[in-house]
Formats: sequence, C-alpha cells, structure tokens
Amino acid sequence: MSAVDDVKKQPDEPGSASELPVALVTGAATGIGKACAEALAAKGYQVAMNYRSQGDAAEKVCEALPGSGHRCYQADVTQPEALADMVQCIQRDYGRIDVLVNAAGRYTPQSLDSAGVTDWHNDWLDCMALNLHAPVNLCYLVAPIMSALGKGRIINITSRGAFRGEPAAPAYGAAKSALNSATQSLALALGGRGIAVFAIAPGWTETPSASPRIAAQGWDGVAAQSPLNRVGRPEEIAALAAFLAEGDAEYLTGAIIDANGASHLRN
Ligand SMILES: NC(=O)c1ccc[n+]([C@@H]2O[C@H](COP(=O)([O-])OP(=O)(O)OC[C@H]3O[C@@H](n4cnc5c(N)ncnc54)[C@H](OP(=O)(O)O)[C@@H]3O)[C@@H](O)[C@H]2O)c1
Repeated sequence: MSAVDDVKKQPDEPGSASELPVALVTGAATGIGKACAEALAAKGYQVAMNYRSQGDAAEKVCEALPGSGHRCYQADVTQPEALADMVQCIQRDYGRIDVLVNAAGRYTPQSLDSAGVTDWHNDWLDCMALNLHAPVNLCYLVAPIMSALGKGRIINITSRGAFRGEPAAPAYGAAKSALNSATQSLALALGGRGIAVFAIAPGWTETPSASPRIAAQGWDGVAAQSPLNRVGRPEEIAALAAFLAEGDAEYLTGAIIDANGASHLRN
C-alpha cells in the first residue's frame, strides 16, 4: 500500500497534467537516491520521492529540495501491488512521469555455509526481489505513462559487482548483472516509444549503507582500488543520472556506464 505523505507545494490541480517534468526516484531518503533527487530538483524536475521506512528523513530531504512540487510516497518496492498503487498516486498527482531512477537496492551478504539450502534459496529470492524484480516492475509500470508522453528516461542503478563478481554476496552480483541485461533489453524494446534506458554501475560510493562496510575493510585499502585513491561520492553518481535524464543523452540508450574511478580495471 502506498500513500502520499507530504505535499511540499501543490504544483497543479489534481487530475490535470503538470507542465513541469516529473522524476520518480526510489530509495530517495538516503544515499545515491537522495543525491539523485537533489540533482534532478536542481535541474527543474518535480521529484516524486519514494521511501520505505525512513519517512522523517524523506520529508526532510523533500523540504530542502530546490524548486517546487516535490512529494514523498511510501512504498516497499518489493511489493508489486504497492508499486502499482504508488505509480497510480503519482499519475493522479502530476499526470506524468518523465524520468524514473531505480536507486532503491541493498548489498545482501550471503554465506555458502548458511543454515541450509532453504535459507540459501530464500536469500536469493529476497535479493532478487529488491535488486532486480522491483526495478523491472517499475519499468513495466511507468512505460505506458512515458509512452503516452512520447518520451521518457529510465536510469537503473546497478553495481561494479555485476562485472567483478561478489563472492560474499553472489545473489547481489547476479541481480545487478541481470539488471544490466534488462536495461539493454528494455532499451531495445522501448526506444521506438521515445524511452531511453540506461544503467549506472557505481563502485564504492560513500553512503550510509556502504560506509560501514568500507570502514570494516579499511578506508585506505578500499580507496586504493581506484587510481584516484578514493571512493565515489553520491553527488557524482547523481550528476551522471541528471545528465542521462536530459535530452542530449538519448543516443546513449542501452549504455551501462561505469562510475567507479577505474577500480574495475584493477585487481
Ligand atoms: N554505495 C555503494 O558503494 C554502491 C555501490 C554500487 C551500487 N550501489 C547501489 O546504489 C543504490 C543505492 O545504494 P546506497 O549506497 O545509496 O544505499 P542506501 O543509502 O542504503 O540507500 C538505499 C535506499 O534504498 C531504500 N530501500 C531499500 N529497500 C527498499 C524497499 N524494499 N523499498 C523501498 N526502498 C528501499 C532504503 O530505504 P530503507 O532504509 O527504508 O530500506 C534506502 O533509502 C543501491 O541499488 C545499491 O545497490 C551502491
């Protein structure tokens, strides 16, 4: 079940299509999703911010966004019915969705020494539900809305792990790899409707969920994976997403863009 929690400023009469473009960003309360919401708002988008559990944080981010017409929508993206409700609410509120950024996701550690094959299997299902099924379900739901507009941009946040392998999180690596592939398939399927589809594959990026894992491995060693000797910043991923949302990036459709400081080229 999704709900509109907060309306910062009413952009238009409900039911009428907004004149300003609208960007739906999942996982927008924190990290890369939050940075994408901020970058897109700065470009003049009204941002429909999805969050799961962090309503207060989402409202705070929403209040601080530049521009107007931003709103928060609670939904667990792993629940297809909740996604459908959320998209229906956004369509009712704005009458359009121009850009989708699928940022919600989570690195999910797994062990080959887990309690049994049922646990192992269920970990795969949960990881796939969040990191693969949720973004492709949202692609399915926004495609008709973007088709009606005759244009749209979908940006899937995947991971360097899709290429390098994730020995401690195999389902996560597989889910992100599958999302890269789905990005390419959907770019082909939707290009004729004016919808461009991209993937951004970040490496280590300093976010609330990644920072403790970086600290556990040691910041210096993680930074040294890149010749730049540092990890990425959420704002760098968001700047790329904002570029992909704009007109000039259309011909990049189907691209999987590495944003990992060349760290994927190093051992
Ligand atoms: N940071 C990195 O180093 C890195 C590297 C490669 C790829 N990525 C990818 O980048 C994306 C953003 O990650 P991040 O580092 O910014 O992590 P983050 O700060 O933890 O943000 C993830 C967001 O996703 C939300 N989320 C998780 N499950 C959800 C669900 N079922 N429904 C709705 N929202 C949900 C979280 O909300 P709740 O807390 O309420 O669950 C959180 O706000 C993820 O797809 C991640 O896999 C990150």
